[in-house]
Amino acid sequence: PEVITVQELANRMAEKGVALVKVLMGMGVMATINEVLDQDTAQLVVEEFGHKPKRVLDSDVEIGISGAEDDETDLASRAPVVTVMGHVDHGKTSLLDALRKANVVSGEAGGITQHIGAYQVEVSGQKITFLDTPGHAAFTEMRARGASVTDICIVVVAADDGVMPQTKEAIAHAKAAGVPLIIAINKMDREGANPDRVRQELLQEEVVVESFSGDVQEVEISALTGLGLDNLKEQILLQAELLELKANPSRAANGVVVEAKLDKGRGSVTTTLIQKGTVKIGDIFVAGAEWGRVRALVNDKGQQVKEAGPSVPVEVLGAGGVPSAGDDFAVVSNEARAREIVDYRQEQIKKKRALAAAGPKTMEAMFTQ
Ligand code: GTP
Ligand code: MG
Repeated sequence: PEVITVQELANRMAEKGVALVKVLMGMGVMATINEVLDQDTAQLVVEEFGHKPKRVLDSDVEIGISGAEDDETDLASRAPVVTVMGHVDHGKTSLLDALRKANVVSGEAGGITQHIGAYQVEVSGQKITFLDTPGHAAFTEMRARGASVTDICIVVVAADDGVMPQTKEAIAHAKAAGVPLIIAINKMDREGANPDRVRQELLQEEVVVESFSGDVQEVEISALTGLGLDNLKEQILLQAELLELKANPSRAANGVVVEAKLDKGRGSVTTTLIQKGTVKIGDIFVAGAEWGRVRALVNDKGQQVKEAGPSVPVEVLGAGGVPSAGDDFAVVSNEARAREIVDYRQEQIKKKRALAAAGPKTMEAMFTQ
């Protein structure tokens, strides 16, 4: 179910219901044993207990849009998907910009800067897909789709500021997702840069970097001067090689919605990270509770493309409405199927809304009512 009661969740984790109620209270959610939780809250609770949450959408199971398992022989290597996280102002966006510029310099980009949440950079003939995490809420939604979205996490820490609350949070996200972590110690050009202090503070988060004889890679960089960026890219490729990332490019496409918006000229624009298969113009697809026929595909350089395969971020034009970030994306066999799935999901959303309206209230909501 897309919603679950406190008791049911407790049963599944083999924990006591009261323990969950306490944890919820700590999160500012006043709930009794019989109260219904939405997926996001349930996930936070599960993580709080140190378990790894796994979401199962009823509709996907019943309708089977994820399709069959891939045959080993159909798998081909794919680019690593790397999520960049970190405390506010530590230089996450600057790093992404610097990497993108490097790509422009190498003649890759067409000079059209189009901000989407995901893009590819080519390093010595190998592609790396980067995901921006523009805000906490967005990242939670991304994470909600499971660890499969990201292969590697880069946590950016400013050398002149050190480990801050969102640095800790980012590390926790990476750990919860079970993906390798790379620490980028940024702003090394700054007067007050003290990378050893960062290394020291990371110990408290149980992150032991390589130069402290640990197993977490760290790279000193400056997004401003470009110092260490080649090294960072090499480290990513090294890590990716170890992961032996593969996907079947020749099946119906599956992916995740990175962001979606309504564009005046282009209609619904669904920025999607393709995870397996290849999406093509004319394909019928479902994205969350919306469906459509692929009218056009636009890559991260603003160029129209005919298709997009595994690990490729692409803007999909043609959805009937605007899906949400974190929604799944799947190409289906025909329009009737698409309608069936979307009808089911919209029904689920309605039910969930009705339950939420009668469900647990946050402290904040209680006080502002
Ligand atoms: P949020 O998106 O708000 O979380 O911040 P961010 O992590 O994306 O930081 P952003 O890239 O916006 O950088 C914040 C400030 O730090 C900007 O003024 C940057 O110019 C500056 N900055 C980023 N990287 C470096 C660096 O390597 N050296 C120096 N000196 N300044 C930097
Ligand atoms: Mg930013």
